[in-house]
Amino acid sequence: MRFAVFISGYGSNLQAIIDAVKQNQIKAELALVVSSKKEAYGLKRAEQAGIKTLFVDPVEFANRQSYDRQVLIHLKEEKIDFIVLAGYMRILTPFFVKKYPKRIINIHPSLLPSFRGVTAIKDALTYGVKITGATVHFVDEKMDHGPIILQESIKIALEDTKETLEQKIHKLEHRILPKSIELFVDGRLKVRGRKVEILEKPQKTSTHNVELAKDIG
Ligand code: GAR
Repeated sequence: MRFAVFISGYGSNLQAIIDAVKQNQIKAELALVVSSKKEAYGLKRAEQAGIKTLFVDPVEFANRQSYDRQVLIHLKEEKIDFIVLAGYMRILTPFFVKKYPKRIINIHPSLLPSFRGVTAIKDALTYGVKITGATVHFVDEKMDHGPIILQESIKIALEDTKETLEQKIHKLEHRILPKSIELFVDGRLKVRGRKVEILEKPQKTSTHNVELAKDIG
């Protein structure tokens, strides 16, 4: 299987994925890194690892769907079977999500359904919750909403700042995101409605023929 990772920034989760592919924990080819930001440090990480990169500039598109359509054209060219969102700060359109049903995985820095959105770590601190964590889930058409693959929690200390909490959450993320991808690639995830069963015995994983040509123009 071939996959793409979408980023918008520093790319520490991307690095964890690159390492897991190198160590053969994830038995799939990381074929493309897509960024919505030109200056994203994650693009450098990809280049250093010899992975093809793509920057698509949002300002060149009239709306989100035309942006997503352009990205899809590249995914089709690269024969991408599934996608991982690792700090991708754009919401995918339903048009895009429908092309990869249960084939888009996202990492979010809170225990969903608490603290959706782009300021999850700060929001958890401000709210004063004692426990937070990270969630890996399949992407559906609603934001931070699809079926949950893995989730892990940590305690928030009184003295935690946004920076210290972010460090703790990243540590969790760098473990549960590669693990989730491994389970997906190995055919060990079975989605039943909102629930994701982790199978002992793998199912056969299929590649994905993206039927794009007729409606992406
Ligand atoms: C990660 O903490 C990820 O969970 C978060 O962005 C960070 C990216 O860090 N994603 C979201 O907040 C999505 N709503 P990284 O660029 O170092 O991997």
